[in-house]
Amino acid sequence: MNTSLHLNLLLLLVFAHLSCFLVLVPVSAKVFLSIDCGSLSLKSRTDNNSILWVGDSPYIQTGTTHKVNIAPKITGWDSRVMSTLRAFPTRKKNCYSIDIKSKTKGGNTTTVERVLVRANFYYGNYDNKSSPPTFNLQFNGNDWEQITATDGIVFTEVVYSLNKSRNIDVCLAQTQPDNIPFISALEIRSLDSDAYNYLGSEYPVFFLDRQAFGTHRTIRYPDDSYDRIWRSIGPLGNTSTLTRVTSNSPSINATTVDKPPEAVLRTTLTPMKNSSEKNMVYSGTLDSKLPSHFNAYFSEVIKLNSTQKRSFNLTVNNNFDNSIIFPPNPVIPPYGRALEVHIFNMTTFNSSFSIDFSPTNDSTLPPLVNALEWFQFGPKLVQGTNSTDVEALGLLQKSFIQLRDWNGDPCLPSPYTWDWVDCNDDPDSPRVTALNLNNLGLTGLLPDFSAMDALKIINLSNNNLTQEIPEFLGTFPELTVLNLADNNFNGTVPSSISDNVNLKFNATGNPNLLCTPTSVCNTDPESRIPPPSTGNTDPESRIPPPPSTGNTDTEPRIPSPVEKGRSSKTFAQPIIILLIMFSGLLL
Ligand SMILES: *[C@@H]1O[C@H](CO)[C@@H](O)[C@H](O)[C@H]1NC(C)=O
Ligand SMILES: *[C@@H]1O[C@H](CO)[C@@H](O)[C@H](O)[C@H]1NC(C)=O
Ligand SMILES: *[C@@H]1O[C@H](CO)[C@@H](O)[C@H](O)[C@H]1NC(C)=O
Ligand SMILES: *[C@@H]1O[C@H](CO)[C@@H](O)[C@H](O)[C@H]1NC(C)=O
Ligand SMILES: *[C@@H]1O[C@H](CO)[C@@H](O)[C@H](O)[C@H]1NC(C)=O
Ligand SMILES: *[C@@H]1O[C@H](CO)[C@@H](O)[C@H](O)[C@H]1NC(C)=O
Ligand SMILES: *[C@@H]1O[C@H](CO)[C@@H](O)[C@H](O)[C@H]1NC(C)=O
Ligand SMILES: *[C@@H]1O[C@H](CO)[C@@H](O)[C@H](O)[C@H]1NC(C)=O
Ligand SMILES: *[C@@H]1O[C@H](CO)[C@@H](O)[C@H](O)[C@H]1NC(C)=O
Ligand SMILES: *[C@@H]1O[C@H](CO)[C@@H](O)[C@H](O)[C@H]1NC(C)=O
Ligand SMILES: *[C@@H]1O[C@H](CO)[C@@H](O)[C@H](O)[C@H]1NC(C)=O
Ligand SMILES: *[C@@H]1O[C@H](CO)[C@@H](O)[C@H](O)[C@H]1NC(C)=O
Repeated sequence: MNTSLHLNLLLLLVFAHLSCFLVLVPVSAKVFLSIDCGSLSLKSRTDNNSILWVGDSPYIQTGTTHKVNIAPKITGWDSRVMSTLRAFPTRKKNCYSIDIKSKTKGGNTTTVERVLVRANFYYGNYDNKSSPPTFNLQFNGNDWEQITATDGIVFTEVVYSLNKSRNIDVCLAQTQPDNIPFISALEIRSLDSDAYNYLGSEYPVFFLDRQAFGTHRTIRYPDDSYDRIWRSIGPLGNTSTLTRVTSNSPSINATTVDKPPEAVLRTTLTPMKNSSEKNMVYSGTLDSKLPSHFNAYFSEVIKLNSTQKRSFNLTVNNNFDNSIIFPPNPVIPPYGRALEVHIFNMTTFNSSFSIDFSPTNDSTLPPLVNALEWFQFGPKLVQGTNSTDVEALGLLQKSFIQLRDWNGDPCLPSPYTWDWVDCNDDPDSPRVTALNLNNLGLTGLLPDFSAMDALKIINLSNNNLTQEIPEFLGTFPELTVLNLADNNFNGTVPSSISDNVNLKFNATGNPNLLCTPTSVCNTDPESRIPPPSTGNTDPESRIPPPPSTGNTDTEPRIPSPVEKGRSSKTFAQPIIILLIMFSGLLL
């Protein structure tokens, strides 16, 4: 891991310096939202890459904002974005929720179909503990990745389809004691619906790396309208037999399915002219059991005459079986255009892999390569908690301010449910089976949440709910426990409840509730004979509900002016260790 870290730090020293300060409205992207987490600034700000950053308060209500103590050590990346973060010392999960519809430009409600979401983490010892935490990242009810923060910047990317969902939810979940999740920046870019869509839109794509060969700087927006981050890989070290070559084509048509930016198609690495070694080998290690996939991008750098030919074969793990390469060998890079070659289902041997680029017999020129992307497919996306249940939970959130700051999927991924619900174990579209809303200071009238018809347990005890007990509370087909104790209900117990022989019902401690043999305030099916009614006899004994507690975030928000400093950029996918070596291993 350290090896790759240093390599990455080194490579990213040469990060882009663009002097353009225009605020650009992105044309090719329907959503282009860059959230500076922990920034309390209400004003948006344009960085050196013409990217407009906004504060995160419209998207999250929980967590605490912090400035980092130690400025990032490497210049180039936007240091101000990395100098603030939001940390989540309470709750098992905390979620950003971004309503995509409200973000489309010009009031056009075109639905966003496919997005790239990038989360960035710079610990910067904000808590003075010198202990970068480990925690989980989730999106729209799906597991994303375990993040292990480092002393550098860590980032991770997923591409997925929204399937009519209006929201993009990104959640941070605590997995280990004393490991407080945090986040520094969150970026959302919409992609064309066919981008990286090889397995079907039910599968998310997780990126491991993205490399541009022979460039002198990292390429991203505005060069790349999708704002992918292409790391610059030059010839590595003095012993490299590879050299940079730049295309002499006046223009390069980069229209392939995944639309690489023209800037990465302009430069290549290729074996040196006088080198006797005409092969290139790209090798690395990946500590993952899952197969991984590559996109390789090629564009010819010179206009070839009739006697020149550049043609080479890709060979994965020295296996001459071509079937995982699309289109099949040989590779003949087109001039002025782009060729995108897919390598699917690449497995590793003892965590290692290699891709050979070897000229075919009729080739007069050595191989070249412009760019590589490396990714894995995740498991099928979940549908998310049953939408009927989600809507009914929304009614409760609308009625009770104490519940409003719960975002993200209520049930998924298991076991990271909202603290006040239980769910069944359906891994794709679970139902809500319990509402644990005791002792939250809820006041007033209950909304009609009868649509949540999988509820087994409703606990509303020890609040200040008023008026008559609604009839619908007795109509849930699966309900076994209804606890309304210690509230302020009045009137009588509806027959839907008193007639329900399966229900364990407790409405003691409601001084204005009439409890009689026909309006029984306390039943337990296990004791068969309904116990004598209690609860309305002594109004003096009523214990008033405690003040509002529980889920509201009581941490003070410390206003922090945006700090100016220096920044570093580390590619870090925690699960991979990547060693890149090009050499002429074969003659
Ligand atoms: C933006 O670029 C300018 C000029 O290259 C540099 O002085 C400044 O520090 C950069 N700003 C950030 C936030 O990186
Ligand atoms: C939204 O954009 C699409 C495509 O640009 C266009 O066809 C449509 O008329 C627009 N709708 C509205 C309401 O502006
Ligand atoms: C960390 O230490 C710095 C410098 O000693 C101090 O200014 C800052 O308030 C401390 N932060 C926390 C969260 O303790
Ligand atoms: C979209 O959701 C529907 C059900 O709402 C499901 O049948 C379909 O498989 C989903 N499609 C994708 C691409 O996830
Ligand atoms: C680029 O190539 C695509 C597909 O090959 C083609 O449809 C498009 O017209 C080309 N664009 C230009 C500017 O030549
Ligand atoms: C093609 O180009 C090569 C290299 O520039 C040159 O040596 C060769 O003579 C050219 N052949 C023709 C037929 O023009
Ligand atoms: C990759 O492997 C998966 C499962 O092993 C298989 O379903 C799929 O067809 C393979 N794809 C290619 C392109 O070989
Ligand atoms: C390159 O691949 C093609 C197609 O699979 C094959 O016919 C040819 O023999 C290969 N050439 C070399 C030098 O490996
Ligand atoms: C929610 O669950 C119920 C009961 O299983 C089912 O009838 C309904 O179709 C589900 N709703 C959605 C949107 O899947
Ligand atoms: C219950 O209390 C409300 C006011 O809080 C009152 O309007 C209503 O009439 C009461 N109902 C009964 C049956 O006492
Ligand atoms: C009903 O709830 C009250 C308050 O939570 C509790 O003291 C009492 O024991 C409960 N009664 C039964 C029968 O569960
Ligand atoms: C309960 O709510 C009622 C009105 O909704 C209010 O008058 C009363 O003060 C509240 N009681 C407590 C203990 O908060």
